[in-house]
Amino acid sequence: MAATRPGTPSENDLTRWDCEHSWHPFSQMREYLQFPPIHIASGEGSWLTDTGGNRYLDATASIWTNVHGHNDPDLNAAITDQLGKVAHSTLLGLSHPVGTELSHKLAGISPGDLNRAFFSDTGANAVEIALKMSLQYWQLRGYRDKDRVIGLRDAYHGDTVATMAAGDSRLFHRRFRPWFFNTIKLPRPECEEWDGKIRRADDGWSLHVLRKLLEKQAGKVTAVILEPSVMGAAGMLLHPPGFLKGVAELCREHSVHLILDEVFVAFGRTGPMLVCADEGVTPDFLCLAKGLSAGYLPLAATLVREPVYETFLGPFESFRAFFHGHTFTGNPLGAAVSLANIRKLEPMIATGEIRRKSDLFGRRIAEHFEAHPHVAAIRQRGMCAAIDLVEDRENGTPFPVPERFGIQVALGARKHGLLLRPIHDTLLLVPPLSISETEIDLLVGRTAEALNEALAARHVSVQ
Ligand SMILES: Cc1ncc(COP(=O)(O)O)c(C=O)c1O
Repeated sequence: MAATRPGTPSENDLTRWDCEHSWHPFSQMREYLQFPPIHIASGEGSWLTDTGGNRYLDATASIWTNVHGHNDPDLNAAITDQLGKVAHSTLLGLSHPVGTELSHKLAGISPGDLNRAFFSDTGANAVEIALKMSLQYWQLRGYRDKDRVIGLRDAYHGDTVATMAAGDSRLFHRRFRPWFFNTIKLPRPECEEWDGKIRRADDGWSLHVLRKLLEKQAGKVTAVILEPSVMGAAGMLLHPPGFLKGVAELCREHSVHLILDEVFVAFGRTGPMLVCADEGVTPDFLCLAKGLSAGYLPLAATLVREPVYETFLGPFESFRAFFHGHTFTGNPLGAAVSLANIRKLEPMIATGEIRRKSDLFGRRIAEHFEAHPHVAAIRQRGMCAAIDLVEDRENGTPFPVPERFGIQVALGARKHGLLLRPIHDTLLLVPPLSISETEIDLLVGRTAEALNEALAARHVSVQ
């Protein structure tokens, strides 16, 4: 074990300071403080270790970001190599080699003339930038009436004001509605898929509504925005294959931008490097984050089609420039690790390694949960899955909200060396893509054990 540096806080200090000084994201702090906090001290592959030496399988890939596991030697080397050169230098008026190399690489993996990378640092910012660029583009072209965005019901694009408006996370964001700009919500398509098989799929109604909306209102719409393939934060809601192409055709036909938010789905998470390239669609804007840097550092990119970029060109005094930037835009350490990530991921996708693991993942989930009496639905595509838990499967009765049953399962899973983060009573399994086959067995098996134990404990407490 590594020697402790003098002055290192004890576990008690950490617990106390966390209680006294921290405010955790997306957390009811009163609930958080009821349970012993976990301070993660180190990571290796699919595993995280806390300050008490307990190991946990990282079943959330550290909030859907991790690709090659923790402490990966190749990614570490890319960062330390860059660290020996410069940790940060701005892209405002300057460039740096890894930033330029990454722009070139991203253009290379992107479809069509999606050729320009505008860097930022979070998924929400990548989306916010696309929204602002789209609005400014139409203004520059003289279409001042185009001021609204069409998004999907239940979509999640981040927590900044514009991304909340474009999304539809009613439970999380409804308080902020007075500040939202004009958006139109489109019904989302239906699809159930796991174990590589589509059970049920229907995009007819969504495409029909979109067609009607655009026929009437295209002159007022800047963009359609969606998370293609899998809507993660909504509970891994799936789109049927072909839906994206249908939307893209309608957008082109009616001169409305298509913004794709691939913050969650790209970089192998659902199989391909980029969903849009896989489905033969070139959006006007493509938003990337999370897996871009393999979950190592905050880096995001908004990729833009060349004609959009060209519209912003002109003499300075035309004020056509895109006046937007963040201090750490395109940080060199983030760019270096992102490049190393993509280079390492390319062969994993090309050889079918990720697809084989995803198939196994789907089979194991089906074996453990398909017939489970408290599972209402399963959705899985690539290396992400959702398992909806209910009190009564027959009539779909949910667990009472105050029971926080999903959280009870996650807390129990910790004792099995598993870190889960459910959304309400939906268990989400999103492991690092580098997870081994043995670890997939462990992950799914331990989740089932934790669920059954939580059910048994509940049975005792309700009797
Ligand atoms: C599809 C999608 N878009 C945007 C975001 C926001 O990304 P960030 O948390 O980096 O701002 C997320 C985060 O989960 C996401 O899943």
